[in-house]
Amino acid sequence: MYSEKVMDHFTHPRNVGEIEDASGVGTVGNAKCGDIMRMYLDIDENGVIREAKFKTFGCGAAVATSSMATELVKGKTVQEALEVTNKAVMEALDGLPPIKVHCSLLAEEAIHAALWDYAEKNGLTIEGLEKPVNDIAEKAPEEDY
Ligand code: FES
Repeated sequence: MYSEKVMDHFTHPRNVGEIEDASGVGTVGNAKCGDIMRMYLDIDENGVIREAKFKTFGCGAAVATSSMATELVKGKTVQEALEVTNKAVMEALDGLPPIKVHCSLLAEEAIHAALWDYAEKNGLTIEGLEKPVNDIAEKAPEEDY
């Protein structure tokens, strides 16, 4: 049911933890399944993501997608990080079962929430970044559950 990459990132998640004095922190939950993800980004003065860490209180797919998402955003500029969509994360993981697609939305939104926090703290506007939701269930299609 899960690809080898999903199993690998679930059993050996990368970048688990917190970043002290992070440039941006974003927390997003899903009221429907009860899962929560918190993303920490360390961004340098050129707007490049130096470090990304996460904590996920959630299902295996949520752990695997947050692990992959942190790997993908590292070394990218904040603008490039916006291209790390849930689709990009799923592709990098060789896919997810349809019923688990909403879990990958949690990772995308948590990145956006951390970027939003970074932008607010620094009085910046990140082009193309919309205000993130606290509860991803507002965005995940009903048939995804
Ligand atoms: Fe909730 Fe996966 S079931 S994030």
